[in-house]
Amino acid sequence: MACVSFRNVRKDYGEVKCIHDFNLEIYDREFVVFVGPSGCGKSTALRMVAGLEEITEGDIFIGDVRINDVKPKNRNIAMVFQNYALYPHMTVYDNMAFPLKMQKKNKREIEERVKSAAKILGIEEYLHRKPKALSGGQRQRVALGRAIVREPNVFLMDEPLSNLDAKLRVQMRLELKELHRRLQTTIIYVTHDQIEAMTLGDRVVVLKDGLIQQVGKPYEIYQKPQNVFVAGFLGSPTMNFIRCQLISENNELHAKTQGFSGKLSNEQKEKLKEYKEKDIVVGIRPENILFNLEEGIKYGNLINANVDVAELVGADTFIHLKTGAQSISALVKSDYGIIEEKPIQLTFKSESLHLFDINTEKAFL
Ligand SMILES: Nc1ncnc2c1ncn2[C@@H]1O[C@H](COP(=O)(O)OP(=O)(O)O)[C@@H](O)[C@H]1O
Ligand SMILES: [Mg+2]
Repeated sequence: MACVSFRNVRKDYGEVKCIHDFNLEIYDREFVVFVGPSGCGKSTALRMVAGLEEITEGDIFIGDVRINDVKPKNRNIAMVFQNYALYPHMTVYDNMAFPLKMQKKNKREIEERVKSAAKILGIEEYLHRKPKALSGGQRQRVALGRAIVREPNVFLMDEPLSNLDAKLRVQMRLELKELHRRLQTTIIYVTHDQIEAMTLGDRVVVLKDGLIQQVGKPYEIYQKPQNVFVAGFLGSPTMNFIRCQLISENNELHAKTQGFSGKLSNEQKEKLKEYKEKDIVVGIRPENILFNLEEGIKYGNLINANVDVAELVGADTFIHLKTGAQSISALVKSDYGIIEEKPIQLTFKSESLHLFDINTEKAFL
């Protein structure tokens, strides 16, 4: 079994408080991704599992063993870093065999394990090459291989794809997903890239300033972000946020500001009935901005806007609009044919509005 539990974990670097009250249960064979902006404590959280950082307070368990005081080499984990640091003078084979030699495994077992890992990673033909004769992607595969041969209970990966170019990253992302399926091992993966997090994770843990903001399946977090930070961090282009006042009219609640008005659904109305006349933050994702006016009439949300700029990004076009004082981004299919600097009407479903408390920035879920 290789569940990993963080129980009330805290990490300070002297005066610097890095991780606070970190509680998380990672299940056996789960692929969990820690995501958040640079400096939020992702690497520190991972390094505490690896035994590269001491735990200031709280406990970490692997299976049912409390590992706080277990030596790194006895934790049965393997870590893969961003800069994969292969030994330049050793062949791929020797690089992969190295951790097993350190463990004093016999030659036959080393050979079996290296060959089996090389097969999984599709690098069998490169075993006799030196790292400098490999591409970035191949080198990263060797680094993964060096972790795989150890047959760890838990893989810890700290931004392992960051040094690769964009195309290779996409390819390696798919390979990692496939690798996880084959290895059937727990993986904790750290990245600042929200797309990597959403595509790789069985579950995603969003971090900010050393605090867990939300834990959930990728789509769950995307659909129901629990606060403004998570809402803005996941999704590209990012969610629009508009400060509105809640106005009661004809028995309905409307979120209004100059140039923007959205009617709340019945469910939203029920939840926010105490907030009449108060200010809230309204969030709407660019892909939820629609331009079909018939639908708009049905939803009761119609807004006049001007197109500032339309950016073609292939199949989709990213549209920057102005409505009164508000700048709003929308995402449409490129064949939709929206022309720049043209008055237009936009609409949206009330259900696609995300509503947040202006003070706590928490969602009214
Ligand atoms: N050895 C250290 N000494 C002091 N502060 C550190 C040390 N390592 C990391 N930190 C601080 O802890 C915070 C989290 O760092 P880190 O875990 O590396 O973030 P991330 O991996 O999310 O970018 C940062 O503010 C960083 O400056
Ligand atoms: Mg880091």
